Amino acid sequence: MNIAVFVSGRGSNLRAIVNSGILAGKVFVKVVVSDKISCPAFEFARSKNIDTLTVSGKNTPDTVTYDELAAILNENGIHLVVLAGFLKLIPAEFIRKLNCKIINIHPALLPSYGGKGMYGMNVHNAVFSSGDKMSGPTVHYVNEQYDEGAIIANLPVDISNAKSPDEIASLVLEKEHILLPEVIYDFYLNWIDGN
Ligand code: GRF
Repeated sequence: MNIAVFVSGRGSNLRAIVNSGILAGKVFVKVVVSDKISCPAFEFARSKNIDTLTVSGKNTPDTVTYDELAAILNENGIHLVVLAGFLKLIPAEFIRKLNCKIINIHPALLPSYGGKGMYGMNVHNAVFSSGDKMSGPTVHYVNEQYDEGAIIANLPVDISNAKSPDEIASLVLEKEHILLPEVIYDFYLNWIDGN
């Protein structure tokens, strides 16, 4: 099964996918897409000889538009798009033109702590202030609203001993690296069934 992974920064989830034992020899990251010209996730992709593409709303050299990107992904037989730390809202037109599903990983237990502005440390700061005892990543389908597509899976983690938002972030990130490859593996099993 071929996937495209969309990133904006660090790329630790991309690494978890590429290095995952359960996905090895079954799921192939064909291309890594970013809204940035360069980011650590791109460097990692290039070190693994994975193609990279920058998507831009603007007509900037060396970038593709969302329309062009949808056509490239469709033509290259991508079976699933995985947003792993991609911060831009995906245009509705791109979702319509793409022939496959899009999933996203969010660093909190949706439907709480989602929506516009709820990304990165904003999420963990809000969870810490709330005094919640549990947090954890959620993987969901992407639709035209931030974090509102159907929930696929989550992985709760006890944060009652966490003393800062940073501690919550690292507890949740550890679970992200487990959950995201597992969900992709489930898509792979479904894909095999249909082929
Ligand atoms: C993760 O916390 C993910 O849940 C969120 O953005 C972060 C990306 O981290 N959507 P990384 O780039 O995968 O390290």
